[in-house]
Amino acid sequence: MNSLTTTLEQLKKSFHLALEKASDADQIEEIRIAFLGRNGHIAAIMDQLKELSLEDKRSFGPLVNEFKTMAQDALNNKKSRLEHEVITQKLQTFKDFDVSAYTSHIPGSLHVYTHLIRKIQDIFISMGYQEAQGPEVETDYYNFGALNIPDNHPARDTHDTFWLTTPGLLMRTHTSTVQIRTMENSQPPIAIFAPGRTFRNEATDATHDFQFMQVEGFLIDTDISISHLLATVQVFLQEVFERKDLNIRVLPDFFPFVEPGLQISAQCPFCSSGCSICKKTGWIEIMGAGMVHPNVLKATGIDPEKYSGFAFGFGLARLAMIKYGIHDIRLLNSTQIEVLEQLG
Ligand code: PHE
Repeated sequence: MNSLTTTLEQLKKSFHLALEKASDADQIEEIRIAFLGRNGHIAAIMDQLKELSLEDKRSFGPLVNEFKTMAQDALNNKKSRLEHEVITQKLQTFKDFDVSAYTSHIPGSLHVYTHLIRKIQDIFISMGYQEAQGPEVETDYYNFGALNIPDNHPARDTHDTFWLTTPGLLMRTHTSTVQIRTMENSQPPIAIFAPGRTFRNEATDATHDFQFMQVEGFLIDTDISISHLLATVQVFLQEVFERKDLNIRVLPDFFPFVEPGLQISAQCPFCSSGCSICKKTGWIEIMGAGMVHPNVLKATGIDPEKYSGFAFGFGLARLAMIKYGIHDIRLLNSTQIEVLEQLG
């Protein structure tokens, strides 16, 4: 009995000593196995306990159990203290880490579309417009019907549409859908620009893709005339091409959702007497536009007697190709990193 008491005291001492020295989770685990493991010191004492008289067992047993519980707690405490220290140390190391310090060394670059959309956002937001989005999967109504293109209207043929297997659903062929969705939910004054993906079932070549980006812009208020449209578009194009003296050319065109309909070109920003980009005409066709048709206003619950507005829409790829001198639209969606890096 006495010798067991001495052994227990010595064990306690060596346990504390070992625990004090332990400096990581592995060492703590080693101590746990040595003392509390199946073949550890405490199990050995328990074995010896069997040999004792009942009375001795009663007085010595609880001491061993006490040691066991104490050892378990002490190990757990030390373990979480060490874990905490490791975390604090890590935090110390990262504390003054400046995440912006290395940006110039991060590989990769922004896509041309991202650059251009940011520029377009800057321009329209500075003119008081708000950005809006709409869904890419649309209904016949938002893509055609509400835009004054009823069933069997020949203008539908000019939109080579991807129809979905669910009747009446399609991939939007233009961002003019956002006009309808926005006007339905708000009353004038409304000034919106809406960049987004559009889809047409066309063969892909250097200037066409079956999926492309468009930007829609429109403004509805009292007393809005065509001169507001022309001034807005001219300022927009001057800002995009960074040419304050850039002129625009306006020709008649037809879109069922505007009346009159216009085709707007920008003066070629690259030449004065004709070059390959403007095909020697001095003008580059940029967008469709016009005054919002009264039927469209009516369809969205806006009174055409009280309000009028203009709308325009253009392809982002075309603008990007002109602005950055890209000759093949397919490069914009290519996976060729070298090309994308050059464009970025
Ligand atoms: N939605 C037309 C198209 O995709 C462009 C457009 C927008 C024309 C707004 C007039 C007004 O071709």
